[in-house]
Amino acid sequence: MQHRKLGRQGLSTSEISYGALGTAAGYGPADDTESIAAIRRAYELGVTHFDTAEMYGWGMGEKLLGRALAPIRDEVTIATKFGYTPTFGQDSRPEHIREVVDNSLRNLGIDTIDLLYQHLPDPNVAIEDVVGVMKEFVDAGKVKYLGVSNADADTIRRAHAVHPISALQDEYSIFAHDGEALFPVLEELGIGFVAYSPLARGFLSGAVKSRDHYDASDYRQRIGWWKPENFDANLAIVDQLTAFAESKGVALSQLALAWLLAKADYIVPIPGSRNPGRVAENVAAIELALTADDLARIDEIVPEGGIGGRLS
Ligand SMILES: NC(=O)c1ccc[n+]([C@@H]2O[C@H](COP(=O)([O-])OP(=O)(O)OC[C@H]3O[C@@H](n4cnc5c(N)ncnc54)[C@H](OP(=O)(O)O)[C@@H]3O)[C@@H](O)[C@H]2O)c1
Repeated sequence: MQHRKLGRQGLSTSEISYGALGTAAGYGPADDTESIAAIRRAYELGVTHFDTAEMYGWGMGEKLLGRALAPIRDEVTIATKFGYTPTFGQDSRPEHIREVVDNSLRNLGIDTIDLLYQHLPDPNVAIEDVVGVMKEFVDAGKVKYLGVSNADADTIRRAHAVHPISALQDEYSIFAHDGEALFPVLEELGIGFVAYSPLARGFLSGAVKSRDHYDASDYRQRIGWWKPENFDANLAIVDQLTAFAESKGVALSQLALAWLLAKADYIVPIPGSRNPGRVAENVAAIELALTADDLARIDEIVPEGGIGGRLS
């Protein structure tokens, strides 16, 4: 497993890292024992960076990740995020950030958060004030590196002017290309790109199903790619991608992750899986090096991403 630098402040992570959302939210019921086995399998295969957030099960996801990583805490880096309210509103008021960071440290059972993100911008609190509070935690030794998520170029610049930002976390996959517009500002400021939902929330996994197959708590019920009017067209795209993956002797998920790794050397995908076997499949994507011709073929199959949008 190679490592990649996120930012210029010293943070380095495995090139494929791990996202823990599904262990506590978003994808229907999870089995804690299996999730812990999946997280530990990721570590055994060389994954050193693990991503969570307060809002993944409102502390449950952090507690589970903390338990899974406790024996190897010093060998890995842990990222978490603040900024949502339980009704999916934004709250980055200084007092709320302080409360969430203390909760996250306690939930994770750690003394220092390696990478702390604002989860999403808050229109009511200037980013300068948000990063000012985040910097207090760095000064106090409770946080090592800072990140922003779901932020635009202007917000990234303003944040970085207050304290160096090591990573932007944004959605990026063969199905979601919007993040590419941020490459210039990331390159100019030397900020890493942590690619979330790199398998398009499972659409690029080889196991996609129509939305009526998912649990009511599964957020894919509300994502545009799964809407009945878009689903079949997206499946047809996936069939072409799968055929291309098979021609290279790999799984679709591996093609999707290798595509991200090939796009730029400051991109780190964080696929999420609660299953040790699927984690192993995802990690093995590091063995696939795509050529410029391969990337061109994939872009030809999916010029503008999945049909229907990721959020609608
Ligand atoms: N900053 C943000 O706003 C934000 C938003 C969304 C996500 N994230 C982060 O990004 C991480 C990854 O995103 P994500 O979990 O939403 O989406 P993802 O990684 O694109 O896809 C996850 C889905 O794919 C399935 N899957 C994974 N590997 C598979 C494989 N090899 N074969 C078949 N199915 C597979 C998972 O199911 P199983 O678990 O059952 O394997 C799950 O349903 C999250 O865990 C979270 O840390 C951040």
